[in-house]
Amino acid sequence: MSILKIENLTKKFGSFTALDGVDMEVNEGEVYGFIGPNGAGKSTTIRILLGMLKATQGEAEIFGKDAWSHAVDIHKRVAYVPGDVNLWPNLTGGEVIDLFMKMNGNANHEKREQLIKKFDFDPTKKSRTYSKGNRQKVALIAAFASDADLYILDEPTSGLDPLMEKVFQECVLDAKAAGKSVLLSSHILSEVEKLCDRVGIIRQGKMVETGTLEELRHLTRTHLTVQTKQPLTALNELKGIHNLEEKGSEFTFQVDTEEMDAVIRYISRFGILKLESAPPTLEDLFMRHYQSEERAGTGAEGIR
Ligand SMILES: Nc1ncnc2c1ncn2[C@@H]1O[C@H](COP(=O)(O)OP(=O)(O)OP(=O)(O)O)[C@@H](O)[C@H]1O
Ligand SMILES: [Mg+2]
Repeated sequence: MSILKIENLTKKFGSFTALDGVDMEVNEGEVYGFIGPNGAGKSTTIRILLGMLKATQGEAEIFGKDAWSHAVDIHKRVAYVPGDVNLWPNLTGGEVIDLFMKMNGNANHEKREQLIKKFDFDPTKKSRTYSKGNRQKVALIAAFASDADLYILDEPTSGLDPLMEKVFQECVLDAKAAGKSVLLSSHILSEVEKLCDRVGIIRQGKMVETGTLEELRHLTRTHLTVQTKQPLTALNELKGIHNLEEKGSEFTFQVDTEEMDAVIRYISRFGILKLESAPPTLEDLFMRHYQSEERAGTGAEGIR
């Protein structure tokens, strides 16, 4: 069942088009990774979903209701964490958590205490004294202590140290295990790889890729390092080989995932002494999309 649905969403700021016909769907119990470079339109999409901005055109629905006209209703079942959390300077962290939890609805106070411990957070200090990471924790504790059906997280871990990043990941997986849905916008691609069932990549206001990580991996390349008994020849004539480098008797290169089988068969004829492979990463895919304009278009059709 679809929890969140966006169709042909367009947002203009004056003559500038920030979103240009965006489609997205998040299903119940799914963690959806929303990635893209700075200024691509992630936060704009999220603000429309939260009813903070009005779309110029298109549909944005949560729980089957229009995000703009039913914002009040929708918010009772949604928890939101922004990347830059502003607090009331004179309230303590604990007081702000309570305030956020009231806004999110369905507060679970037992969970609040557990999360304060897990995030190693001191709720008694005045908010103005908190570091960025600690301000982030306030919003995260309030969000995950709310019994929401959908968690909308816009770069929620930008200020967290690696230990806290791990705690965050556990929180997302707990929410998923409880059947909740999560929309996670993030620049930390390893985080997205660990957590997300499906991923959407946005670029200049347009979705350029969507799919499961498995599906996206078909568009990526595996890194190989090989050494063979007999001299390995004519490797550069094989299909799907990129960035071939020769260091002594060792070859390093990348292979298109769909050509792996043929390439490995070919190499094994020379007698394999060493074979190391590094899996394709989301980062490779992301980089290929953003490094150069002309390459960005290729492969986008592979999924849809
Ligand atoms: N209120 C506004 N008025 C005018 N332009 C805006 C406004 N809000 C956003 N924009 C523009 O819309 C584009 C998309 O911005 P958005 O904040 O959605 O990007 P983002 O993907 O969240 O980027 P980041 O990764 O840096 O958070 C940017 O070019 C931004 O300058
Ligand atoms: Mg943003």
